Amino acid sequence: MVKFKRKTDPRKDGMGRKARREPAPLPASTVTALVGATGGVGTTSAACALALSLAVRSGRSRTQLQRMTDGPRVALIDMDFQTGACAHHLDLLPTLSPDDLARPASQIDASVLSVMAHQAIGGVALLSAPNGTESAVSPRTVLALLDAATQAFDHVVIDLPRRFEPWTPAVLAGADASLVMAELTVPSLHMARLRRAQLAPVLGPMGRALDTVITKHERRGGRGSLDLKDVQTALGEPAFASLPMDPDPLRESVNSGEPLLSLRPDCRYVSAIEQLADTLCLAVAEARPDEATEPEQRSAA
Ligand SMILES: Nc1ncnc2c1ncn2[C@@H]1O[C@H](COP(=O)(O)OP(=O)(O)O)[C@@H](O)[C@H]1O
Ligand SMILES: [Mg+2]
Repeated sequence: MVKFKRKTDPRKDGMGRKARREPAPLPASTVTALVGATGGVGTTSAACALALSLAVRSGRSRTQLQRMTDGPRVALIDMDFQTGACAHHLDLLPTLSPDDLARPASQIDASVLSVMAHQAIGGVALLSAPNGTESAVSPRTVLALLDAATQAFDHVVIDLPRRFEPWTPAVLAGADASLVMAELTVPSLHMARLRRAQLAPVLGPMGRALDTVITKHERRGGRGSLDLKDVQTALGEPAFASLPMDPDPLRESVNSGEPLLSLRPDCRYVSAIEQLADTLCLAVAEARPDEATEPEQRSAA
């Protein structure tokens, strides 16, 4: 009997899993700030997943000994002091106390910060405060925290509150990538356009804009739904990236506290986060062409 060789799917690896493309080279450092155009669009989910993806990429370029001795190289800062949920998403404890948030900015440096960022998972250190501490927050201290985080960590991801706070423009201006997260609905795109216009005087002089990431995207949205082409019409620019509607894995992850990246590495949402991380790395490398990426740096050392 002639045995036919089973046709192999080039998109799958030897174990039948989807083969992953080589990720884009990781810049030596990145600061990414995410702000939701409207509530519940998935900003915190994306911030957590992006931070974990950057941590995995950063871990790949280090030896096992370096990984054990260096500690986390990625920080996730939850700047939503009123209703932030990064700690819940990652099943970690808040690390900042109201006293920390009210400290004089001059007292915050990289060594103080490394003590504050003692909760970590998957190579991501969390900086977050218990909900309801917003009245204690000094805007200068928040910016000092961010400054110290960029010195203490290679990659920083910031989950900003939807409401504009006194520090919001400075945080977005200081980031390498500033992302407004919006759903494909008229109210959400309207708020994204408003945020882009509000930030134009701050980011415009630096040749930058608030980039839009479409969340909960459904390819077949049904009657009355918008599609990605409408983003160009509404905002005058295409979406920077899009994340699919993928409720089951996200629900499972947030309710179990296990990162999606390890819980459901093959789900559509994780692939889209990897693509977002790639787009981000390439955009940062393009903006800072003279800077070496991580593997290049290490092979030169
Ligand atoms: N891409 C997605 N597909 C389906 N559900 C999502 C997606 N992103 C987030 N969610 C769910 O939406 C809810 C709000 O998400 P969250 O990240 O807290 O939003 P935000 O920070 O914008 O308020 C959560 O229940 C989360 O699991
Ligand atoms: Mg949130």
